[in-house]
Amino acid sequence: MKYIVPALAVAGRAAAQCSASTTTIQNAGDASAVASCKTFSGSIAIATGTTDNIDLSGSLTKISGSLIVNNVTGISSVASSSLESIDDSFTLNGLTLLGNLNFPSLASVGSIDWEALPALQQLTFANGVQEAGLVSIQNTELNSLTGINLQVVDTMILVNNPYLSKVDMQLGNVTQQITVESNGRDLEVSFPNLIWANNITIRNASDVSIPSLASVNGSAGFYSCNFESLIAPNLTKVGGGLALISNEMLSNISFPALSEVDGAVNIANNTELDSISFPKLETVQGAVDFYGNFSDVELPEINLVKGAFNLQSTNDISKACDHFVDLKGANNVIRGKYTCQGKSSHPGGTGTLKPGTNDGSGSGSSSSSTASASTTKNAAVSMYVPAAGSVLGVVAAVFGIF
Ligand SMILES: *[C@@H]1O[C@H](CO)[C@@H](O)[C@H](O)[C@H]1NC(C)=O
Ligand SMILES: *[C@@H]1O[C@H](CO)[C@@H](O)[C@H](O)[C@H]1NC(C)=O
Ligand SMILES: *[C@@H]1O[C@H](CO)[C@@H](O)[C@H](O)[C@H]1NC(C)=O
Ligand SMILES: *[C@@H]1O[C@H](CO)[C@@H](O)[C@H](O)[C@H]1NC(C)=O
Ligand SMILES: *[C@@H]1O[C@H](CO)[C@@H](O)[C@H](O)[C@H]1NC(C)=O
Ligand SMILES: *[C@@H]1O[C@H](CO)[C@@H](O)[C@H](O)[C@H]1NC(C)=O
Ligand SMILES: *[C@@H]1O[C@H](CO)[C@@H](O)[C@H](O)[C@H]1NC(C)=O
Ligand SMILES: *[C@@H]1O[C@H](CO)[C@@H](O)[C@H](O)[C@H]1NC(C)=O
Ligand SMILES: *[C@@H]1O[C@H](CO)[C@@H](O)[C@H](O)[C@H]1NC(C)=O
Repeated sequence: MKYIVPALAVAGRAAAQCSASTTTIQNAGDASAVASCKTFSGSIAIATGTTDNIDLSGSLTKISGSLIVNNVTGISSVASSSLESIDDSFTLNGLTLLGNLNFPSLASVGSIDWEALPALQQLTFANGVQEAGLVSIQNTELNSLTGINLQVVDTMILVNNPYLSKVDMQLGNVTQQITVESNGRDLEVSFPNLIWANNITIRNASDVSIPSLASVNGSAGFYSCNFESLIAPNLTKVGGGLALISNEMLSNISFPALSEVDGAVNIANNTELDSISFPKLETVQGAVDFYGNFSDVELPEINLVKGAFNLQSTNDISKACDHFVDLKGANNVIRGKYTCQGKSSHPGGTGTLKPGTNDGSGSGSSSSSTASASTTKNAAVSMYVPAAGSVLGVVAAVFGIF
């Protein structure tokens, strides 16, 4: 509708076959007719009953609308050696047999929206698509995205492509969102030139390389990844939250330049992570919420945590509790609710302990701390009623988180 007003569309159709709001191709003959146009003004769709291979090679270099292939369950090949750009979307959905997608000259696409392509294993895009607004590739058998080497994208969604083992793109900025999840178990994600992104969510990856990333305007989250280290050498600022959750092999995090997080920092259930250190972190506008299996927390430069502060670990964290308890208070560094507990059998998030809890070596022990810290600790312990505390904690967690 946004391409041509109805009167013009009619005039266009009368004058030539190179213009229509949408033209629907039924077979190979229709395809070669359209391919004789240099530019097709409008959209091209392939009819659902088509079984011919569709080849749009010829004079055609540009489609000003979309190229749409939906529910064409009998088609096995779609190609064009001449097509360079699709202004609107390149949509492929529900193509059971599509095994060949060959667009060696294609460089620019408004959006790529591909879904449910169970036979598509490879792309033949020799030139490489470098520019797109949206790229959404879901439920395909693609084992490589070679041919999509975006430098600029607004949104990139790569979900449920179980054979995909590598994503390596020259992206400079991502103005909206990167979402990568449930692809191949050994997926390696590499964005060597990425400087800033609005939001980043990565799940189930085995390696993430973001050497140039300097800022995230919104949130960054890494969930259920099986990497051993996560290194963000140039990241200085996260405008939303930072989350590292359930990365079960993660043993080394390195954020040597991170100084500001405007949301919460959530680090939970990374069972191999023993030491959490953010050497330059100064301000956290949200909560600091760390729970899991660590023994050491270092935030040497921290000067403001506006939200809650919660540390809970299966290990003894007396050293951290003794240090941070002195930073809590209305005019102090930690402004929100403070809780710290070590040797916990079920470490939990903010709200799962009574405010003020400060017992790094578990409820039973109070031996290894300075006089002033143990005064605070004993006061907290005497107020702590385990059963009531945990019920209240669950309620608080529900209201606090959702
Ligand atoms: C494809 O067909 C299914 C039913 O066969 C329908 O539900 C779906 O909306 C169609 N998808 C598109 C994109 O046309
Ligand atoms: C990324 O954004 C910056 C401005 O924030 C701009 O200077 C740069 O050219 C952009 N890079 C790309 C590859 O678009
Ligand atoms: C990906 O991680 C999520 C949790 O973040 C998990 O529920 C899901 O099963 C994982 N998917 C795969 C394919 O491993
Ligand atoms: C990291 O940031 C520094 C200073 O801004 C810059 O000189 C360097 O090139 C960046 N490193 C990478 C890998 O982008
Ligand atoms: C994100 O942050 C970068 C660097 O601070 C900035 O150049 C860019 O304009 C911001 N992007 C958005 C969408 O706010
Ligand atoms: C991106 O981040 C912003 C700010 O944190 C958030 O409000 C928004 O919901 C996020 N968008 C997506 C798609 O996650
Ligand atoms: C963690 O990674 C950083 C950056 O690569 C490295 O300098 C450091 O030695 C690693 N630490 C451990 C304990 O492996
Ligand atoms: C951490 O693990 C516990 C226990 O398995 C679970 O209840 C909790 O939801 C997990 N937290 C997150 C943020 O996944
Ligand atoms: C915590 O780490 C220790 C080793 O540091 C390990 O023995 C223990 O099983 C881990 N606990 C959990 C819940 O992963």
